[in-house]
Amino acid sequence: MTTDLLRALRFMRRYTLVAGFAVLAVLAASAAELIAPQLLKRIIDVGITGSRTDVIIAAALGLVGVAVVGGIATFLQGYLSARASHGAAYDMRNAIFEKLQGLSFSYHDRAQTGQLITRVTSDVDLVRDFVGGGLVQAISAAIMLVGAVVLLLEMNWRLALVAFASIPATVFVLVKFVGNLGPSFRTFQQRLAALNSVLQENIAGVRVVKAFAREPFEAQRYRGADELLLDQGLKVRITVANAFPLLFSVGTLGVALVTWVGAVQVIHGELTVGELVAFTSYLMLLLQPLFIIGFGAQSIARAGASAQRLFEILDVATDVAERPNAVAMGPIQGRIELRGVTLRYPGSTTDTLSDLSFIVEPGAAIALVGATGSGKTSVVNLIPRFYDVASGAVLIDDTDVRDVTLDSLRSKIGVVMQDSVLFSGTVAENIAYGMPDATREQIEAAARSAEAHEFILQLEHGYETCVGERGVRLSGGQRQRVAIARALLIDPRILIMDDSTSSVDAETESALRLKLDALMEDRTTFIIAQRLSTVRKADTILLIDDGRLVAQGTHDELLAENCLYAEIAASQLVGGERVGMPDHCDLLAERGDV
Ligand SMILES: Nc1ncnc2c1ncn2[C@@H]1O[C@H](COP(=O)(O)OP(=O)(O)O)[C@@H](O)[C@H]1O
Ligand SMILES: [Mg+2]
Repeated sequence: MTTDLLRALRFMRRYTLVAGFAVLAVLAASAAELIAPQLLKRIIDVGITGSRTDVIIAAALGLVGVAVVGGIATFLQGYLSARASHGAAYDMRNAIFEKLQGLSFSYHDRAQTGQLITRVTSDVDLVRDFVGGGLVQAISAAIMLVGAVVLLLEMNWRLALVAFASIPATVFVLVKFVGNLGPSFRTFQQRLAALNSVLQENIAGVRVVKAFAREPFEAQRYRGADELLLDQGLKVRITVANAFPLLFSVGTLGVALVTWVGAVQVIHGELTVGELVAFTSYLMLLLQPLFIIGFGAQSIARAGASAQRLFEILDVATDVAERPNAVAMGPIQGRIELRGVTLRYPGSTTDTLSDLSFIVEPGAAIALVGATGSGKTSVVNLIPRFYDVASGAVLIDDTDVRDVTLDSLRSKIGVVMQDSVLFSGTVAENIAYGMPDATREQIEAAARSAEAHEFILQLEHGYETCVGERGVRLSGGQRQRVAIARALLIDPRILIMDDSTSSVDAETESALRLKLDALMEDRTTFIIAQRLSTVRKADTILLIDDGRLVAQGTHDELLAENCLYAEIAASQLVGGERVGMPDHCDLLAERGDV
């Protein structure tokens, strides 16, 4: 935990200069505090005892000067440390964000959004508070501690030793206190993250919650998580509340002891009154740092727990990592080969794909057919290397996808995923997502090819209509077509469409298919579709069953010779179109759309 905190300090690197000045300001402020008792002593011992008004005035002015310097230094310390710590927090957030983006699909399959958001926000803030407040205070406290110890020893070493008697007890209380707090704060952050996960899921799924009238259940779930957080918050408070009276008692005991011994020394003429006053002032300066460290300990414990959570993300190894000697992939033909591929998802105990081999010639259109959960999506996800194979290899133009950089590989593949996610922004921006410098002509051409142009023009602001969160809600089919346009715009050599037209109505789909036919001419295309018409057009159909390739051929070939295919064709693939349906498929057309 402490090591995580020290690692977190590395985020201060860019702000060394600012932080350096903050420490200088701390030194100045501490010096001012250490000088003040000396002036006080002079006022009492020389000024009052010797009836010297000039000394009193000079020393009093000195006190004012010291206070002014101290005030300015304290302000600068606060300002400069805030600059440094907010800068460090800015860098931390960006580092985590970039790390999260770099993590592979398998990480995000299992990560909870609420958890991640808590780390990027609350945990970063807690580490920042420590760096900006706790750390500077601790440095200042350490300086004061050393200064006070030296001055006390110098003034009256015997009395100083009496004063130091209370230090071990104070340190003991502190150490125990920090030890207890660290795990408590960690639990607190975990419960906060759990609460945020419930919140995030509920906001994202609010329509489902309402559809099933589960509001009371969800409210109960949230309240449950909230109660756990409340309990933990109180627990932390109680630990803190217990520690401070103890610290104060130990400290006050020390002061009482010194005053008593010192008073006896004054009576015996071994000490002046001014010296005793200055001495007790320094004693307060000695105890104050200990209290600050005590307060700081809380911030240290808390920041340590948060730093640990930050590095849990920053240290995750990416499953799908670029090889050090990866090269950029040059222009490709689009020949794809899966050679003895086995895929096992992280955390799974069985292989999702086993010993899968096939070759696709450049420009071919491939349809993947199989029952739900048979592994169709898993197969196509291997081509842009969303996941890595456990054994075997995926080759594009005889190059293993693991030998090239991810950027260059993925920029050649247009992917339309099973669910079409749009970002907040205009329709045009969403289509141009993979090619931000695309011209309006290119965007419109892509939209036309995706059969999206017409409906986009009918939106209130056409291509400039805002969609995504807080924008116009498009229908499922409309979103799919925007997603298709987005994939087509980058003019990929390889096009992957995973159930991309499932929500598009039959009529639009057949219009879309005509356009796609032309577009598919010179690209290697993988289609996972539920419509027979789409599948029938494919050059080759790959029949997947339970992660294995069980047959391949054209629709007619498979229909004639493969019972599983015939069965799937009957149960899964739906027609809807009125043209060219073979006799024995007529029945299917009756089943209508899914
Ligand atoms: N990200 C994942 N992590 C773990 N298991 C997965 C993941 N994606 C899919 N699976 C599992 O792999 C199998 C094949 O899934 P998938 O390829 O999505 O099938 P299909 O697209 O044919 O419906 C299923 O049993 C599914 O539960
Ligand atoms: Mg799928």
